Amino acid sequence: MKRSFGKYRETGERLTMLTAYDAAFASLLEKAGIDCILVGDSLGNVFQGVSSTREVTVGQMVYHTRSVRAGAPNAFVWTDMPHLSYETPETAVANARRLIEAGADGVKLEGYRKGIVRALTDAGIPVCAHIGLLPQTAENFKVRGKEEDEQIRLKTEAAALQEEGAVMTVIECTSSALAAEITESLDIPTIGIGAGNGCDGQVLVVNDMLGLKEEKGAKFVRRYADLCGVIIEAVHSFVRDVRSGDYPSQNESYR
Ligand code: KIV
Repeated sequence: MKRSFGKYRETGERLTMLTAYDAAFASLLEKAGIDCILVGDSLGNVFQGVSSTREVTVGQMVYHTRSVRAGAPNAFVWTDMPHLSYETPETAVANARRLIEAGADGVKLEGYRKGIVRALTDAGIPVCAHIGLLPQTAENFKVRGKEEDEQIRLKTEAAALQEEGAVMTVIECTSSALAAEITESLDIPTIGIGAGNGCDGQVLVVNDMLGLKEEKGAKFVRRYADLCGVIIEAVHSFVRDVRSGDYPSQNESYR
């Protein structure tokens, strides 16, 4: 699916993005009218239960991209390029092609390395950049861009990523003021996560915003539901009903 994202800068319409890793969730997000689905490498944390995104492989992203595309045939699907899968222009293009063949409309990658976005763009692959906190290489999860030199670096990188052909950029965990300033300086839309209200859109990890884990999330996460409470209660009821002999009833059994 090809789509231009320029209108979000031009009209001020806000862009919405959530992660999904499987067909069931992707189908619900599409039905609910989300603009973009991100097959995030956050699947390492929320799906595989490991503490970092660094072990996620291209093969795993291919598998999850196929599942998401099966559930959401019409949504614009971005897939994260995993850690170390875009070290050179050649490996970046080869790995991105696998993700596109699996059903992604474009790829997202973290940080700026000269020539990588240009090579992907020249190969006809839409790129979403990602600046600020970069989970694949981060040593801590503190707010980025507090010092002036880092602010300058982030602004310079955002401009370079746009110049190489990125069609949008995620900004993760910066002050609202810095994200707004970067947004104003670009022609492409910005998608914030923990970067305040001055971006052109917002992205969240779907498990976080649906309350699928019991621990409280980061400050920027708004919990729109408490699905872990709902699920735990439903499973308790199932366990109770099976143990008491209440389930299955005659109506739930074949004659
Ligand atoms: O992997 C991911 O889910 C992401 C979002 C946090 C933007 O990159």
